[in-house]
Amino acid sequence: MEHIYPIFDKMLTRSDKEELLGQRGLMVWFTGLSGSGKSTVAIALERELQKRRLLCRILDGDNIRSGINNNLGFSAEDRIENIRRIAEVGKLFVDTGIITIAAFISPNNDMREMAANIIGKDDFVEVYVSTPIEECERRDVKGLYAKARKGEIKNFTGISAPFEAPLHPALSLDTSKLSLEESVNRLLELILPKVTEK
Ligand code: ADX
Repeated sequence: MEHIYPIFDKMLTRSDKEELLGQRGLMVWFTGLSGSGKSTVAIALERELQKRRLLCRILDGDNIRSGINNNLGFSAEDRIENIRRIAEVGKLFVDTGIITIAAFISPNNDMREMAANIIGKDDFVEVYVSTPIEECERRDVKGLYAKARKGEIKNFTGISAPFEAPLHPALSLDTSKLSLEESVNRLLELILPKVTEK
């Protein structure tokens, strides 16, 4: 592009940041239905990593859909754009050496593949929060399943819009079967070697 002068050659590198922090950057990408427990598990994981003096950043609907993505809805197109921007923002955190935890429904294999490609497959760990829809609907924390059943919300994932289970997640967590502590322990086993390796 004309008149665009990349300054990357002057910036400190990812390894410089990782050395400063004493950890490696990583994207932990949660996928699962609304109400499956993605945010709850993400928050508990963040606390455990913080205890171990590892720096994290959670990206979820509250800080993304109310801010950078507040012009997007839930059409198939908007969901792709939602995930694309999250992946781009997530990449900035990962490139700063930060353990980044994304908690979005991200309902299709294609969009998760896109996210993995943007971030880089080596830095991307897919975690499927596989809590069955019956349990998500029973919890109905936000009352959205009831509204979706009445037709008051269109394109609701699992009711009137599709959810594709990931084919090869690094980990599956069914929060109707596992305690929060068990879920977090499984995550720590997976993540700690990746973020503390030399
Ligand atoms: S995604 O499909 O684009 O990845 P995202 O995780 O950002 O979804 O947002 C999902 C949250 O938005 C749900 O937990 C729910 O609170 C809310 N929501 C509002 N409308 C819908 C809808 N039609 N389908 C799914 N979630 C919705």
